[in-house]
Amino acid sequence: MLDLFADAEPWQEPLAPGATILRRFAFADADALLADINAVASQSPFRQMVTPGGYTMSVAMTNCGRLGWTTDARGYRYAPGDPLTGQPWPAMPSTFASLCQHASAAAGYSDFQPDACLINRYLPGAKLSLHQDKDEPDLQAPIVSVSLGLPAVFQFGGSRRSDPLKRLLLEHGDVVVWGGPSRLFYHGIQPLKPGQHPATGECRYNLTFRRAGN
Ligand code: SIN
Ligand code: FE2
Repeated sequence: MLDLFADAEPWQEPLAPGATILRRFAFADADALLADINAVASQSPFRQMVTPGGYTMSVAMTNCGRLGWTTDARGYRYAPGDPLTGQPWPAMPSTFASLCQHASAAAGYSDFQPDACLINRYLPGAKLSLHQDKDEPDLQAPIVSVSLGLPAVFQFGGSRRSDPLKRLLLEHGDVVVWGGPSRLFYHGIQPLKPGQHPATGECRYNLTFRRAGN
């Protein structure tokens, strides 16, 4: 199928104070990012983690960078080692670091230095319930989130769980950056609809870059 928008220039949409959507910002780098996701996953495989409440997450996860986010019966935390392999998490690929640097600067956060990248893989039906990203000690640093593959509905609310939610479709190459006044805003992903994407088949990937250490 001819994609009339394949060559479109990225554009920006304001989302909330301190939060911006960079539409298609990662489109041109998508194939390189996907190849590096596979390289990371060949060392630290995708796995469905268990929450402290005993619930197996529908999203499969892995990490790269100095620290990685994990959850198990003992709680949520960032750790330097992959509990599955007993090895350090794979290094952050330079494609990831460079995209994150350009995206954060474009959104107004010019010296963001991520030390962790959580990689989420959604198959049809997988979702991420409304939550805050609050396991990071340095809340001055933003969150940079990159969407690849099948589209998904992203919910973005406010600082209280009960605040009204915006619902936006995130498509292949879209990047969302939130920080400053919206750093702790609630967000989530609605259950992924089945489909086929030319770059990823039946799944969606999301990269979230974080500053997880001091
Ligand atoms: C997240 O909240 O960590 C990921 C959101 C997404 O998959 O877009
Ligand atoms: Fe999150």
